[in-house]
Amino acid sequence: MALDIVMLGPPGAGKGTQAARLARLYGLPAISTGDMLREAVQAGSDLGQRVKAVMDRGDLVSDDLMIEIVRERLVRDDTAKGVVLDGFPRTLRQAEALDQMADGRNLVAIEVAVPAEEIIRRLSSRRICRDCAAIADPETLAGGGATCARCGGPLVQRADDREDVVRERLHVYERTVRPMLDYYRARPSFRTVDGRQPPDRVFDAIVEAVERLTAVGQKD
Ligand code: AP5
Repeated sequence: MALDIVMLGPPGAGKGTQAARLARLYGLPAISTGDMLREAVQAGSDLGQRVKAVMDRGDLVSDDLMIEIVRERLVRDDTAKGVVLDGFPRTLRQAEALDQMADGRNLVAIEVAVPAEEIIRRLSSRRICRDCAAIADPETLAGGGATCARCGGPLVQRADDREDVVRERLHVYERTVRPMLDYYRARPSFRTVDGRQPPDRVFDAIVEAVERLTAVGQKD
């Protein structure tokens, strides 16, 4: 049965970092709605022009648009064995829409929990590749590196990683995303992982959770 892994948690919790690793481990596509929107902004497409201002101020793009974007992505052939979703769903309406799209698939939801002070520290120093969106390794940055280890593109700060915008994103998270977590928390296929640990430890904890949750699912 297809395995869909939903990564939940506040901005900067490490969802993207871990989604990329999980995607490699399980051979699934990582689908980041944030990356999809940023690509559209960079390309200057109609979609990009519609969402740029919303993203720049740290607000959420409308449910209708996001559900449509994900629906179109999930019908592609590479999703047959499952997906790792990063950044979607973010509202109750998106979560309900995902349940309809993922009907008959095995869906597990993992919350990566990190406190606000740590998030602000992480995001003020985060740099991503302008060309391929990869997150720069902290070691690369500490060594003064200014180019992407994967493709050689320039490393840049995300427009929404300025401290004032990060604080707004955290408010939006508390107001809209955190209430949605209860939708998943009530299910046996939900786990919370401590995201304050080093990335390798977080990864191990997520994999252990996914393996346990899918083993339970297979017995049902
Ligand atoms: P999106 O791109 O999804 O942003 P986000 O949820 O705010 O999450 P981030 O990408 O900032 O953080 P992350 O948890 O992926 O952490 P990362 O791995 O990078 O969305 C951006 C915007 O798009 C939204 O604000 C909204 O406008 C719009 N949008 C997107 N989806 C939407 C939707 N469904 N509905 C409506 N609007 C939507 O890690 C962060 C940093 O910490 C990195 O530098 C990393 O190296 C470091 N790090 C990671 N793990 C660790 C660790 N364990 N210890 C120390 N450092 C770590």
